[in-house]
Amino acid sequence: MAHFITFEGIEGSGKTTQIALAAGFLRRLGYSVVITREPGGCPIADSIREILLHPDNNALVPRAELLLYAAARAQHVDQVIRPALQDGHLVLCDRYTDATLAYQGYGRGLDLNLIEQLNALACGDCRPDLTLVLDLPHDVGIARALQRNEIHDQVDEGRFEQEALDFHRRVRNGYLELALKEPRRMQVIPAVGNAQQVAERLSNCLEDFLGRD
Ligand code: TMP
Repeated sequence: MAHFITFEGIEGSGKTTQIALAAGFLRRLGYSVVITREPGGCPIADSIREILLHPDNNALVPRAELLLYAAARAQHVDQVIRPALQDGHLVLCDRYTDATLAYQGYGRGLDLNLIEQLNALACGDCRPDLTLVLDLPHDVGIARALQRNEIHDQVDEGRFEQEALDFHRRVRNGYLELALKEPRRMQVIPAVGNAQQVAERLSNCLEDFLGRD
């Protein structure tokens, strides 16, 4: 049965590792899993990702940034997410609409109602059934993300991790506030401990969710 599950969290929360582990867990249960991510997930949205995350684009103003995230999402929904759900796949998406509320809304201070409207325009009826928020203190996350960058020297990670720690604190608190508003859809998973421990918490949550059918 088609399900749409999104993963959220601040930088360094371990989403990428955990999505791969969750996909393995779900495949072993017999689900056909599609993994995708935002911004990106299809060629046009990947081109928008390049603009959004390139360190040279520091001059991007928050409104332009917001509109680019929305544009990338509209394309991704129509080309990847909706078709995969219609074909009966279980879709795991690394970041989605809550990221825009957390980063552009709580982080940058843009109007949350306006973002809700843009999210609705971009995704239509493609709303997540479950959102897993990997939570950890913002300074721990940033330290982890910076360490990873030194190792992998990933160009597209650059822009956000140069931001002040305060921004990431607002983003983290934003996620927690969003989760309080929608406790059934949004589950907060402590992302402290090793990858295996976090994966176990996630698997328990996924089992509960799939058992709701
Ligand atoms: P990633 O590090 O998970 O690949 O995400 C890329 C960056 O994009 C990350 O810093 C969060 C940011 N982002 C937003 O600011 N708003 C959004 O709507 C999305 C999807 C991502």
